[in-house]
Amino acid sequence: MSQPNLIENKQKKRVFEKLSDATGWTPLVRLNKIVQDFPFADVYAKIEFTNPMGSIKDRIARHLINKALQNGELKQGDTIIENSSGNTAMGLAMMAIENGLHCKIVVRATTAKEKLDALRAVGADLVLVDPALPPEHPDSYNKKVHTILKVHPEYFFPDQHNNLDNNEAHYLTTGPEIWQQMAGKIDYVVAGIGTGGTLSGVAKYLKEQDPNIKIIAVDPEGSVFYDYFKKGILSQPYRYFIEGLGDEELIKCVNFDLIDDMIQVSNENAFKYTRQLAKQEAILAGGSSGAAVYGVLNLLSRLNSHQKRRIVTIFPDSGGRYLSTIYNDDWLKSIGINPENF
Ligand SMILES: Cc1ncc(COP(=O)(O)O)c(C=O)c1O
Repeated sequence: MSQPNLIENKQKKRVFEKLSDATGWTPLVRLNKIVQDFPFADVYAKIEFTNPMGSIKDRIARHLINKALQNGELKQGDTIIENSSGNTAMGLAMMAIENGLHCKIVVRATTAKEKLDALRAVGADLVLVDPALPPEHPDSYNKKVHTILKVHPEYFFPDQHNNLDNNEAHYLTTGPEIWQQMAGKIDYVVAGIGTGGTLSGVAKYLKEQDPNIKIIAVDPEGSVFYDYFKKGILSQPYRYFIEGLGDEELIKCVNFDLIDDMIQVSNENAFKYTRQLAKQEAILAGGSSGAAVYGVLNLLSRLNSHQKRRIVTIFPDSGGRYLSTIYNDDWLKSIGINPENF
């Protein structure tokens, strides 16, 4: 057997020389029961928690760190610093272990315990910040990295919120995968925006293939993106509990020009559909996936049912990271949500 066939067979069997190479080519799975009120729609979800460290963020960690290693910005023994809701941090920890780097992560102290425990398990050095601090405070989630960089300018800061290589990772991988998996027939993509990398990268690739594809973003109540997109104003952010989505300030990776519409989601609706996904589809996903499902249902309820529609949504991480929060009735009640209403 010739060498190319061997390599091809190896990839088919998903055999890899290192864990990060197993990133991507995640499954696209049809949603059935949760969208059954809308038989005119074929809705498919990209299941990103099948990535090696459990989230879509493995894609950007791999791309950003490999690029920095290749262009000499990073070398063995260096320290990476990033602020993350936990998922990018897990991907960076994988890249750090593989390449002999150190990994320091600024994370909100209220981040789900499962994520913090997992990060410590893979050797990340955590800097916990108080989420109640205003964004301009030097110790806030958005400013703490810069405060540390003043003391340690030698640290490497990927800056996932403003580094357009984040978008590029999705332009090069997530977008083409969706296009191929949907055989080029897509009407809408509905997904949450956190850094904006996923939606902006996917949108750019897909609109280049077919400019008729509509991109629908989902943003939590309390984040600044929705009012900026709809009214061009920067409203006062307030606290919400959907990890990974939204922000308290505008960031470069959110490309508003590629977004056709935006849907706002409450904590309650995001968590209601997260729990329904588990019960109705056996998909144990995180809160941003429930937010995406809410976005899909909201869109479907406004579409004309006489036309067949093909919709793609993205489920960024697993519910295993939120068993003590979204899947815990006492926690839901502690934030004023009654799970009996779900
Ligand atoms: C759980 C979760 N969902 C969604 C997102 C949003 O993805 P993006 O940052 O590419 O907009 C993130 C990003 O951190 C996340 O952690």
